[in-house]
Amino acid sequence: MEKSDKNFNHSRRTFVKNSALLGGTMMAMPFASHAGYFTSVDDTIKIALIGCGGRGTGAAMQALLSKQNVKLVAMADAFKDRLDKSYTAITSENDEGVSVKASVDVPEERKFIGFDAYLKAIPLADVVILATPPGFRPIHFEEAIKQGKHVFMEKPVATDPAGVKKVLEVAAIAKQKKLNVVVGLQRHYQNSYKELYKRVQDGMIGEITSGQVWWNNDGVWVNLRQPGQTEMEYQMRNWYYFNWLCGDHIVEQHIHNIDVMNWFKGAYPVKAQGMGGRQVRTGKEYGEIFDHHYVEYHYADGTVLNSQCRHIKGTYAKVDEMIVGTKGVIQCGAGEILSKGKSLYKFDMKKENNPYQTEHDELFAALAKGEYKFADAENGAKASLTAIIGRLATYSGQVIDWDTALNSGLDIHPQKYAWDANPPVLPGEDGLYPIATPGVTKYFA
Ligand SMILES: NC(=O)c1ccc[n+]([C@@H]2O[C@H](COP(=O)([O-])OP(=O)(O)OC[C@H]3O[C@@H](n4cnc5c(N)ncnc54)[C@H](O)[C@@H]3O)[C@@H](O)[C@H]2O)c1
Repeated sequence: MEKSDKNFNHSRRTFVKNSALLGGTMMAMPFASHAGYFTSVDDTIKIALIGCGGRGTGAAMQALLSKQNVKLVAMADAFKDRLDKSYTAITSENDEGVSVKASVDVPEERKFIGFDAYLKAIPLADVVILATPPGFRPIHFEEAIKQGKHVFMEKPVATDPAGVKKVLEVAAIAKQKKLNVVVGLQRHYQNSYKELYKRVQDGMIGEITSGQVWWNNDGVWVNLRQPGQTEMEYQMRNWYYFNWLCGDHIVEQHIHNIDVMNWFKGAYPVKAQGMGGRQVRTGKEYGEIFDHHYVEYHYADGTVLNSQCRHIKGTYAKVDEMIVGTKGVIQCGAGEILSKGKSLYKFDMKKENNPYQTEHDELFAALAKGEYKFADAENGAKASLTAIIGRLATYSGQVIDWDTALNSGLDIHPQKYAWDANPPVLPGEDGLYPIATPGVTKYFA
């Protein structure tokens, strides 16, 4: 539906009117009554961006490019320089020479900085984009849903079991309130994966009996400590290497591949065991995370998923999924299904889409029509937990049980969010952080 569509304007006006009349009783109303919450008196869908880094900037632009009447009205970030950089990018032409500047209305008074910036931005929007490091996702998601906002949130949605539990609770409330929630596990919005999934449903590979998933590559950026930074600021700037913020790379990146297995299998593992360590990335700038993990996930029916992720320069790189069934094997990256080496199906790569754009196109199309269509948060939380139990398994060298972890209350977050507060992990005198040691590190014992 285009911005100029007359029906769009009519339906949105009706929708806004219904919303105002229904007020607090909206939660109990079925979808037919246009259950949703829009603040504007015209037909604009207002968005707020929380976490104005690389992905948040991209997601905001994709929302504004979604062909609906969307306006960015507020931005929030922990740091002013990050927000300013994002604002400049969003109001400039993108690589294809396209500009969304006309859809940006964020004056200085609607740019919010600091740990509490999200509290100021969320009330101003109908839809909130959550793209901070994942450690903050549970509290930001909770606030957005409390305030009756639709949500696009990036994966992972938590870095510890307590965070997962919180997101699951809030996901249930979002469902009751009929608030759309899309999670940036974008393979679910990618044509090749959707076609493969359809064929799994149709029985082309029979019963899934095992899988193999990989995220092996060089790793990511490092932000070195700068003079004058408090420990909290340093960890926030170099967030990838601290578990309360990032979850380790098995959670932060490899979640995509692990999630595909859960999705195609239609189940989540019941336990995990594995091994890992940090062999190359050992400097203090690499905080506390490992540089490799190998995890064996077990599903209730005996299916096993072997997962490997490695961040080591100069090693074999592979990011992909292979799903094995009784009648065939899926090579996800190639978009192909094979049986004994013979191709049963091959996705036409000319039909591939940009799933980062599609997830916003679909979300905002639903919102423009007043539809309740997306409830991704529960899977987002369970995909996050799958990756988290993998980390707990490699850190401890023990078998980690899904239910035990989920109900453990394990919370690795700071007591207080402030620049002069202590983060939960601190360096020793040599500047190095405590590292998990399999056989010594224990959970739930
Ligand atoms: N779906 C994908 O393929 C994909 C790709 C890249 C990133 N991501 C996800 O997006 C998220 C962000 O990643 P990124 O690469 O954009 O990182 P980034 O460091 O570029 O951006 C994060 C931003 O959040 C800000 N921030 C940190 N704490 C905050 C807080 N409490 N309140 C407000 N702002 C805060 C930071 O200052 C920074 O500007 C991560 O969860 C990541 O996994 C997803």
